[in-house]
Amino acid sequence: MKLLVTGGAGFIGSHLCERLLRSGAEVVCLDNFNDVYDPAMKKRNLDPCVRCSNFRLVDGDILDAEITAAVMEQEAPEVIIHLAALAGVRGSVLDPLKYVDADVKGTVAMLECCRKYGVKKFIFASSSSVYGTCQTPFREENAPTVQVSPYAAAKYSGEVFCRTYSHLYGLPVVCLRFFTVYGPRQRPDMAIHTFAGSIIADREIKIFGNGTSIRDYTYVDDVIDGIMSSIELPCTFETINLGNSSTTSIMELVSILESKLGKKANLNFLPAQPGDVPATCADITKAKSILGYDPKVSLEEGIDRFVEWYLERVVE
Ligand SMILES: NC(=O)c1ccc[n+]([C@@H]2O[C@H](COP(=O)([O-])OP(=O)(O)OC[C@H]3O[C@@H](n4cnc5c(N)ncnc54)[C@H](O)[C@@H]3O)[C@@H](O)[C@H]2O)c1
Repeated sequence: MKLLVTGGAGFIGSHLCERLLRSGAEVVCLDNFNDVYDPAMKKRNLDPCVRCSNFRLVDGDILDAEITAAVMEQEAPEVIIHLAALAGVRGSVLDPLKYVDADVKGTVAMLECCRKYGVKKFIFASSSSVYGTCQTPFREENAPTVQVSPYAAAKYSGEVFCRTYSHLYGLPVVCLRFFTVYGPRQRPDMAIHTFAGSIIADREIKIFGNGTSIRDYTYVDDVIDGIMSSIELPCTFETINLGNSSTTSIMELVSILESKLGKKANLNFLPAQPGDVPATCADITKAKSILGYDPKVSLEEGIDRFVEWYLERVVE
């Protein structure tokens, strides 16, 4: 099977490309190597893939119609796994239009590729942030409340367009709502990555709010298991949570990192930021029943693996 992975050089995308190649699939990765964080890190993410003969890398933008048409015509992927996006809440509050371009227009552009080129399945990387301030645990059947950041609004809009394309053209679509994914290669703007760097370098860690906000941290290999199962899922349109279904407060996270790194953190408490939600927690009953999803990596173990990678690759 040949699959197109957009955003395949990023954190989750590079793990996915590797797993797909290991499963014997042919993989085309389309990524524009933007400078939201160091593009050299994204190039390194793909080191294990570029050696593989079943892998093709296209350096290009999902909004560049010429490039996407060429990829679709030359490669004819059966499945598109659409991960390319501007990710993260805070940047979206500062520059919402950029997020509309990448995350809404970009998603519609890929859905149009599905329509024009007869793609058999579209898998969309959505986010727990679409639930806004819903009561936890978040369930797919509960309509999300107000999306509290432009990023969340853009991801929710992406889901709405997915449903429309599924309805209009019979395109099988799976929208996967990821819950705070972490592990080796994690984006440098995310909490575990920035906190680890700050503890090691004796820099202060900014805690927005009083440290009681809680997140459902999901190890990247577990998320990849969920994506792999959704490729095979017979469906018309499904929305599925991929979380770990257990929660950790920011202060607990800091103390796990302190003990793994053997150093105390220097904390600076600042007011909560607009766009942040107090809690996320996935109900994963649906993922368990229709995908056989079964997250295996505990936060302690996952942070061990992250720290090992971080100390080897990031710290000089
Ligand atoms: N990491 C998480 O915790 C998390 C949680 C919920 C949802 N998601 C979603 O999962 C996906 C992957 O997230 P990630 O953490 O791996 O982020 P990432 O930034 O590491 O990966 C995204 C990749 O997309 C590429 N990209 C961005 N805009 C592009 C464009 N216009 N054309 C081509 N390529 C483009 C980037 O260069 C990057 O390599 C995103 O859609 C994100 O919104 C991630």
